[in-house]
Amino acid sequence: MALRDELRDHGVLKIGAEAVLRRVSWRGLMLVEKKRLPKPYRHPQLDSEVRVSRTLKEARVMIRAKEVGVRCPAIIHVDLEGAAIYMQFIEGVDLRELLSTSHPRLPDIVWRLGALLAKLHGADIYHGDFVPSNVLITGGEPVLIDFGLSGSSTDIEEQAVDLHLFERGVSASHPAIAQGMMKELKSGYESVAGSARLRGIEARIAEIRSRARYVKREAT
Ligand SMILES: Nc1ncnc2c1ncn2[C@@H]1O[C@H](COP(=O)(O)OP(=O)(O)O)[C@@H](O)[C@H]1O
Ligand SMILES: [Mg+2]
Repeated sequence: MALRDELRDHGVLKIGAEAVLRRVSWRGLMLVEKKRLPKPYRHPQLDSEVRVSRTLKEARVMIRAKEVGVRCPAIIHVDLEGAAIYMQFIEGVDLRELLSTSHPRLPDIVWRLGALLAKLHGADIYHGDFVPSNVLITGGEPVLIDFGLSGSSTDIEEQAVDLHLFERGVSASHPAIAQGMMKELKSGYESVAGSARLRGIEARIAEIRSRARYVKREAT
């Protein structure tokens, strides 16, 4: 019997722009189903190819990330025909929510997150959507989720964008603690990647910022 015939639905977690996430159980295991639904505006054949290839890519990156020791949900099953990933359900809160509390372990958690990101980058993988809502916290440890925009690259640009996106996200939602959180993130990152690499990334972030300012000026 196919896995999908044995699933019990426990309700929708999120209806995203690209995928619908549900909590499901299979033989007593609590899982998350991330299913990419057809887009009516795409040609059906192309649409199916896009959904299958993105599903496969996301699952591959997650398997690779776990191989190199980056905490992320374990992939249990990939249903290519249904464009769905079945992964371990992570019980916990997301980092965006946690940033709103003055949780005493917050600095330590963000430091660990920096180390996780550096491990991912060390394997030439960038996350692509590295924002606080894509980090779940369980047992005081960060777990990365949402690898839908991830990819493989040796270019420092993609890695700098990961840190830049995180900073922008935290500055927008929690400006008072953004600086302190970035210090922790970078310190954890440096513990794995080394200080020369961190300096290279910081220089590239400064460049990305000045490019963004330039684009803004052009637009006005
Ligand atoms: N493995 C998981 N365990 C628990 N919750 C999850 C898991 N994966 C996703 N979620 C929840 O579903 C939300 C959306 O998932 P995500 O992969 O980030 O999709 P999207 O691309 O729509 O942002 C997450 O913010 C999180 O709350
Ligand atoms: Mg997300």
